[in-house]
Amino acid sequence: MSTPNSVSPVRPRFQLQVRPATTQDAAEIARIYLQATQDNLATFENFLVTAEQQAHWVNDHAGKYPLLVAELSGRVLGWAALSPYHVRPHMEGIAELLIYIDRDYRRHGVGRELMRAIQTTARACGHFKLIGRFLAHNDAGRTLCRMTGWREVGIHLKHTKLEGRWHDLVVVEFLIPENLS
Ligand SMILES: CC(C)(COP(=O)(O)OP(=O)(O)OC[C@H]1O[C@@H](n2cnc3c(N)ncnc32)[C@H](O)[C@@H]1OP(=O)(O)O)[C@@H](O)C(=O)NCCC(=O)NCCS
Repeated sequence: MSTPNSVSPVRPRFQLQVRPATTQDAAEIARIYLQATQDNLATFENFLVTAEQQAHWVNDHAGKYPLLVAELSGRVLGWAALSPYHVRPHMEGIAELLIYIDRDYRRHGVGRELMRAIQTTARACGHFKLIGRFLAHNDAGRTLCRMTGWREVGIHLKHTKLEGRWHDLVVVEFLIPENLS
């Protein structure tokens, strides 16, 4: 029985399962990305449009470049992916993050949980750094990164064109010191 001074245990509002994506998730992953496009929060257009592109995206993410989904009672609420970081020469040990949450489930802690899971996976995969890029007006993305240990590197001016308009992109990075050798 609780007493006036006892503290209730803090419980998550719901139980999420974070797991690797399968091709069966491809359409849901694309649906969630499309929402972000409609909300002017996606960094590029014409991505994950066809069923073939969607299946490719899932199949391309394995091993050091995972694609995780957060699921609740069989419904995919969000996803996070690591992709190779394309610079010359190709840099082993750096991966680029994308993270997208279903519009109806944003601001419920799903992003934070997926972020933690992908950071843990990145550490286990041996990456020493993650990088991310998102639209400069994306307050949610900037705040989520700030509270999960990312650092803002700077802003690329006029770095992506969406619906005919140029947008600035914020660059963020997350260091994994254990994997720096
Ligand atoms: C950015 C995004 C991934 C955050 O996911 P989320 O599940 O909504 O985030 P959480 O609920 O875990 O929130 C974590 C913290 O981020 C901050 N945050 C989240 N949404 C916010 C908003 N709209 N405005 C300001 N801060 C916000 C809050 O500090 C929040 O913690 P709090 O609720 O305890 O205050 C999600 O909003 C999203 O998918 N946006 C569209 C796609 C995108 O921008 N992706 C990032 C670029 S790749």
